[in-house]
Amino acid sequence: MNHPAQAPQPPRWKEDFPINWEDDAYITRKEFIKFLGLTSIVFLFGTCLTAGRRWLRESFQRRSPPMSIGHVDEIPVGGYKLFRYPGPDDPCILLRPGPEQFVAFSQLCTHLACPVHYQAETGQLVCPCHEAFFKAEDGTVLAGPPRRPLTRFAVVVRDKQLWIQPVSKVDG
Ligand code: FES
Repeated sequence: MNHPAQAPQPPRWKEDFPINWEDDAYITRKEFIKFLGLTSIVFLFGTCLTAGRRWLRESFQRRSPPMSIGHVDEIPVGGYKLFRYPGPDDPCILLRPGPEQFVAFSQLCTHLACPVHYQAETGQLVCPCHEAFFKAEDGTVLAGPPRRPLTRFAVVVRDKQLWIQPVSKVDG
């Protein structure tokens, strides 16, 4: 003789420790405000840290002494040369768009510091990380997420020797 199928009984511990799972997953308004507050603090801290690092790097660049980076004949017209200035961790690029024209920039993209590359055929410096384009003549932003131009350095030619220095040292 067959017994009718019985519904499975809940385990006994559930009677002693009843849990309302809907209430358990409920986020209170207080918890939500706490989460928003902590997120805002972390975001603010990150923004201040980034701005502080940028300020330090730029003030270091403004106070750096001139540096020789080679002879003019090392760079063909339309060519470029990579170098480091003012510190060993600061990649830069020198371009020679014309026989007597030299321009130098920090190679760090002003968005999130990926290195930019020179594209001679378009006359642009390109950041591959988020597809940003800068004008090779003056480093201004043509397209992409950066909002500031590339950091530019002054190039001085003395006795056919190329010298890099902060722009402020030429102005002042
Ligand atoms: S790091 Fe260059 S566009 Fe984002």
